[in-house]
Amino acid sequence: MLSIPPPSLSLTLLLLLLPHIAQGATNPFTQYAVDFPDPAYVAAADFPRNLAGAEDTIVAWADEMTSYGPWSVTFKPVLAPSGDKHDYMSWAPYEWPNCKAVGNKTELTPEQVWKTCPYVFRDGEVNPDRTTINDFQSFFNLSDAILYNSIAAVLQNSSSSVYSQNVASFIETWFLNNDTFMNPNLNFAQMNRGPNGQVGEFTGILDLRGFAKIASGILILRKTNNSDWTADLDAQFVSWCEKYIDWLQTAPTAKQAAASTNNHGTIFVSQLAALKLLVQDVPTAVNLTKGYFNGIFKNQINANGDQPAEASRSRPYHYRNFNAAGMITNAHLLAYADPTAKPSGWNFTTHSGAKIQAAIDFLMTVNPAATQETNVTTEIYPNVAAVASVYGDPSGKYGAFLNKSGFAYADDATFLWDQPLAGGDVEAAGEANHTATASLTPSASGGSNGPPAVAPGPASGGRVSVTGMRWIDLVCVFAVMFGLGHLS
Ligand SMILES: *[C@@H]1O[C@H](CO)[C@@H](O)[C@H](O)[C@H]1NC(C)=O
Ligand SMILES: *[C@@H]1O[C@H](CO)[C@@H](O)[C@H](O)[C@H]1NC(C)=O
Ligand SMILES: *[C@@H]1O[C@H](CO)[C@@H](O)[C@H](O)[C@H]1NC(C)=O
Ligand SMILES: *[C@@H]1O[C@H](CO)[C@@H](O)[C@H](O)[C@H]1NC(C)=O
Ligand SMILES: *[C@@H]1O[C@H](CO)[C@@H](O)[C@H](O)[C@H]1NC(C)=O
Ligand SMILES: *[C@@H]1O[C@H](CO)[C@@H](O)[C@H](O)[C@H]1NC(C)=O
Ligand SMILES: *[C@@H]1O[C@H](CO)[C@@H](O)[C@H](O)[C@H]1NC(C)=O
Ligand SMILES: *[C@@H]1O[C@H](CO)[C@@H](O)[C@H](O)[C@H]1NC(C)=O
Ligand SMILES: *[C@@H]1O[C@H](CO)[C@@H](O)[C@H](O)[C@H]1NC(C)=O
Ligand SMILES: *[C@@H]1O[C@H](CO)[C@@H](O)[C@H](O)[C@H]1NC(C)=O
Repeated sequence: MLSIPPPSLSLTLLLLLLPHIAQGATNPFTQYAVDFPDPAYVAAADFPRNLAGAEDTIVAWADEMTSYGPWSVTFKPVLAPSGDKHDYMSWAPYEWPNCKAVGNKTELTPEQVWKTCPYVFRDGEVNPDRTTINDFQSFFNLSDAILYNSIAAVLQNSSSSVYSQNVASFIETWFLNNDTFMNPNLNFAQMNRGPNGQVGEFTGILDLRGFAKIASGILILRKTNNSDWTADLDAQFVSWCEKYIDWLQTAPTAKQAAASTNNHGTIFVSQLAALKLLVQDVPTAVNLTKGYFNGIFKNQINANGDQPAEASRSRPYHYRNFNAAGMITNAHLLAYADPTAKPSGWNFTTHSGAKIQAAIDFLMTVNPAATQETNVTTEIYPNVAAVASVYGDPSGKYGAFLNKSGFAYADDATFLWDQPLAGGDVEAAGEANHTATASLTPSASGGSNGPPAVAPGPASGGRVSVTGMRWIDLVCVFAVMFGLGHLS
C-alpha cells in the first residue's frame, strides 16, 4: 500500500511546482466594471517591490480569461433581427414577457415569446434568459482577457510572448477576421423584445464599456513596441474603431446614452474617450473627459457624498459603485490624455463642492446588506484603492477599511496600478495573508467555442517574483515529494 513512487515522479512534480513556489498568492477572478490602468505606468514596468501578489493574480487572470476565448458575435445561437450574423445583439436585462393577451393557452416556442409577447420592465430583476445570447458577457471577458494578457506580456519582459499573441488573436477574431468580425454598431444592444421591440436601446451602449480596458491593453502593447502587435493589425483595428466611433457619435441610441445624466452618461464618456485614445485623437479624449467633469458630473455627488441618480435605483449599492468606477475611469483617462490638466479629474468639484473622494467616503458607510446586495460587496474595493492611491490616506482610514474587509487587496490585480496605496502597512497586510493554494492550476489555453485557435499558454507566468520561498511553499514541496506522489 505504501508504495514508494519512482524518484522521477516526485522530481517531475517538484519541477512542475517550482514556478509556483517562488510566487505570491492569487485572488479569484473578479470582473470589475470599468477601469483604465495608466498605460505609461504599466509599460514602464517600474513597479514597487510589494506587488508580487498583484502580478501573480494578473497572470492567473490572463490565463483564466484566455481559457474562455476566443470570442465572436458570430458564435451566438440566435441571429439579430437583421439576419446578419455579424451584428452584435443583447437582450434588455430587466424586461419580462407577459403572454396572457396573446393566446398563451398551451405553449409558445421561445421565438414566439420573443416576437409576440409584450415585455414589461422590472428594475433590478434580471431575466435569466438574457444569458442565452452571450455577446455582452463575451465582450466583458474579451476586454478582461486583453487587459490582463497585455499586462502579463509586460511582466514577461519580452517583445513577444504567448500573452501578447493572445491579445493579437482575440482582437483579430472579434473585430477583423472575415468570418467572425463584428459590424461596428450596437443597433441591437439591450434590445427589448415583443411586438414593440426588436431594436437596440440606449442602455445597451454600456455593453461595450470594456473598451476602456481594451484601450489600456493595446496602448501598453504599443508603448512597449510589442512585436506581436503588428503595424498591420494596429491599422486594421484603428480602422474598425473609427467606424464604430462614427456610429457612437451619430446613432440616436448612442446620442441618448451620451445625453444621460447618470452612469450611462458617465460611462459613455469612458468608452468614447478610450476609443479616441486608440485612434490617437488625444485632444478629443481630453475634451470629452473635461466635458464630463464640467458637465453631468456637476450634479452627480451631493454634499454628503451620495449619488442621487444611483441611490434611487433598485440596486443602489451596485449602481453607486458602478458610477463611481466610471468617474474614476474618466479621471484616469484625463490624467493619461493630459497629465498637466488643471484641475485633474480628481480635483473637479460638483455643484455641492464634492470631489470623487466624497462619493467613496460615503459608500464606505453604506451597508450592502441593507439592500440585499452582499453579493456585490467587492465592487467597492478597487474604488477605495483608487481613491487612497490618488488622495493619500493620512488618517489610515482607507487602509483600515480594506484591512477589515478581509479582502486580500494586496494580491488583487488593481493593486498593481492603484499605487502608491498610502497607509504604509498595506504591504505587511497583504503579505501576512498570502496563501499558497491558488496558483496550482495550470492555465488552459486555446478556445473551444470557435475558430481560430489561440496559441497555447505556459503553465504559469514565466516570471519569478521577488517574494522568494516561504515556509508554506516548503510544506508544499515536502507534501509533493512524500505525500502526493503516493496517490498514484
Ligand atoms: C403563460 O401562461 C401560464 C399559465 O397561465 C403562466 O403560468 C405563464 O406565466 C405564462 N407565460 C408567460 C410568459 O406569460
Ligand atoms: C466569462 O468568464 C466567466 C468567468 O468569470 C465564465 O464563467 C463564463 O463562462 C465566460 N463566458 C464567456 C462567454 O466567455
Ligand atoms: C528586461 O530585459 C532586459 C534585456 O532584454 C534586461 O536588461 C532587463 O534587466 C530586464 N528587466 C527585468 C526587470 O528583468
Ligand atoms: C470576405 O467575405 C466576403 C463575403 O462574405 C467575400 O466576398 C470576400 O472576398 C472575403 N474577403 C476575404 C479577404 O476573404
Ligand atoms: C519603441 O520604439 C520607438 C520608435 O522606434 C522608440 O522611440 C521607443 O524608445 C521604443 N520604446 C521601447 C519601450 O522600446
Ligand atoms: C470641446 O470642443 C468643443 C468644440 O469642438 C468646444 O465647444 C468645447 O468647449 C470643448 N470642451 C472642452 C471641455 O474643452
Ligand atoms: C489637487 O489639487 C491640489 C491643490 O491644488 C494639488 O496639490 C493636488 O496635486 C491635486 N491632486 C490631483 C490628484 O490632481
Ligand atoms: C446579485 O444578486 C442579484 C439578485 O439578488 C442579482 O440580480 C445579481 O445579478 C447578483 N450579482 C452578482 C454579481 O452575482
Ligand atoms: C493593516 O493590517 C496590518 C496587518 O495586520 C497592520 O500591520 C496594519 O497596521 C493595518 N493597516 C491599517 C491602515 O490599519
Ligand atoms: C488578513 O487575515 C486576518 C486574520 O485572518 C484578517 O483579520 C484580515 O482581515 C486579513 N486582511 C486581508 C487584507 O485580507
